[in-house]
Amino acid sequence: MKDLPQRPRKVAAGNWKMNGTRAALDQLDRVAAAARSLPEITSVICPPAPLLSPAIRPGLCIGGQDCHTDAAGAHTGEISAEMLRDAGANHVILGHSERRTKHGENDALISSKMAAAWHAGLTAILCIGESETAYARGDTLDVLLVQLRGSLPDGATPENTIVAYEPVWAIGTGQTPTPREIASVHRFIRNWLDARFERGCEISLLYGGSVTPDNAAEIFATEDVDGALVGGASLRAENFVPIMTTLARQESRHDF
Ligand code: PGA
Repeated sequence: MKDLPQRPRKVAAGNWKMNGTRAALDQLDRVAAAARSLPEITSVICPPAPLLSPAIRPGLCIGGQDCHTDAAGAHTGEISAEMLRDAGANHVILGHSERRTKHGENDALISSKMAAAWHAGLTAILCIGESETAYARGDTLDVLLVQLRGSLPDGATPENTIVAYEPVWAIGTGQTPTPREIASVHRFIRNWLDARFERGCEISLLYGGSVTPDNAAEIFATEDVDGALVGGASLRAENFVPIMTTLARQESRHDF
């Protein structure tokens, strides 16, 4: 008999991008304390690589922001998934729009990185999202379909994969899609994952792009949103902790 599908786990993930020196690690004591008090959600911080090991705190998951396709070799400046794992990471962001646009990453490369991340035992947070032009043309779902087909290899499970929908025009701009738009995109992604992978409907779907403590409640109340990938607002505990708490509150509603 087939097991009943589990509800996707709720995830609050912070992407520090190229921000933060050791002085910023102070923020993580409060974030980790909050993470320990909110075991019903998974809390992840993805700091710059030099801070990976020093960022480790009980209760908090740590992630890289990218990885190479190879485990080791002559790739000056690169970091492998094995190295992230060795440094204490259990997650890695892949296919972020800044990697796609500023570093020319395409879906095939991202797909190879996904496989490398899984091989190293990391959970990959795969980012997909449409540009402003594609959004204006009404091409959002077409773009996402191409990205999903091209960048998510066979073998995705709820344990090894999280998908983050991040409209490029919403990242760092203060603009967000309406809850109705987010709901319809997430429903589309959920259905696609469900049709493609055995336990696809259990894969967590995050929204990313200008999430703040002020809009988190509305976003988390949106159907098929299992959490957020947060950039700017993850840099300070006073902003990220309320986002985590809001997500946990949303999760506890399901318990009744
Ligand atoms: P933002 O970034 O929250 O600053 O918009 C989100 C992201 O790039 O993941």
